[in-house]
Amino acid sequence: MATNDVVLSLRGVAKSFGNSRIIRDITMDVAPGERIALIGPNGAGKSTLFNMISGRFQPSGGDIVLNGNSLLKLEPYEIYRQGLSRSFQITNIFAKLSVYENIRSSVLWSLGHRYSLFKFLNKLTDVRERAEQLMEQVGLARRKDVLAGLLTYAEQRSLEIAMTVAGNPSVVLLDEPTAGMSRSESEQAVELIRKLTEGRTLLMVEHDMSVVFGLADRIAVLAGGALIALESPEKIRHNHAVKEAYLGDHHA
Ligand SMILES: Nc1ncnc2c1ncn2[C@@H]1O[C@H](COP(=O)(O)OP(=O)(O)OP(=O)(O)O)[C@@H](O)[C@H]1O
Ligand SMILES: [Mg+2]
Repeated sequence: MATNDVVLSLRGVAKSFGNSRIIRDITMDVAPGERIALIGPNGAGKSTLFNMISGRFQPSGGDIVLNGNSLLKLEPYEIYRQGLSRSFQITNIFAKLSVYENIRSSVLWSLGHRYSLFKFLNKLTDVRERAEQLMEQVGLARRKDVLAGLLTYAEQRSLEIAMTVAGNPSVVLLDEPTAGMSRSESEQAVELIRKLTEGRTLLMVEHDMSVVFGLADRIAVLAGGALIALESPEKIRHNHAVKEAYLGDHHA
């Protein structure tokens, strides 16, 4: 791919913890606006890869490049400021703050106004409007004043997605956004993800194959820390290595 067709590039990325090689030499380019589902057995290294892309872990080898700039050595917040935002596998919200306060804190954080009181005061209306727009988009407007800890599980995941996109990131990483949801909840979550990631690049770890095949432009398959396939859903369906390594009985 030409450089301007690539938003995120992994180049020979590796990660070891002690003597265990968890991620082995992963190379892939992601195009702007593309939706990639990252799948693989438990312990394959999916969250570890996300942790490296978002700056929580330093790779042991290789490079990760966002819009032409290496992310190595950047702190997570610096990567976030460059337009890459992630959610966590474990819900990452403040239980004792209301829905509105949670979203507002993400909007504020994304604007970096912690550092400038005057700028901050000028922008209060913008912050409120952005928070209200997000609550509307994820269907939580009527739950605005409810403490996040009292929301249903599915509502908490919606809130988390709203918080992840609060800063208008160009690249969004979601780690198992539909985990623990019922079929109908996860269908709703997919629609929400589709809507809120419109025009953005999406990388999503997901175990639910109907979500994966319904949403992804390409599917990346990780097994034993290696990328064993990166192809369209149609091709993945017929990929023998993938069937053996992972899909097995999960997928009819
Ligand atoms: N901080 C760490 N220190 C040591 N080992 C780790 C660390 N983080 C992850 N691992 C190991 O790396 C391997 C991959 O873990 P990871 O969480 O990335 O898998 P995963 O693909 O996200 O799995 P799951 O589908 O269960 O979420 C596991 O064997 C795990 O024990
Ligand atoms: Mg994981």
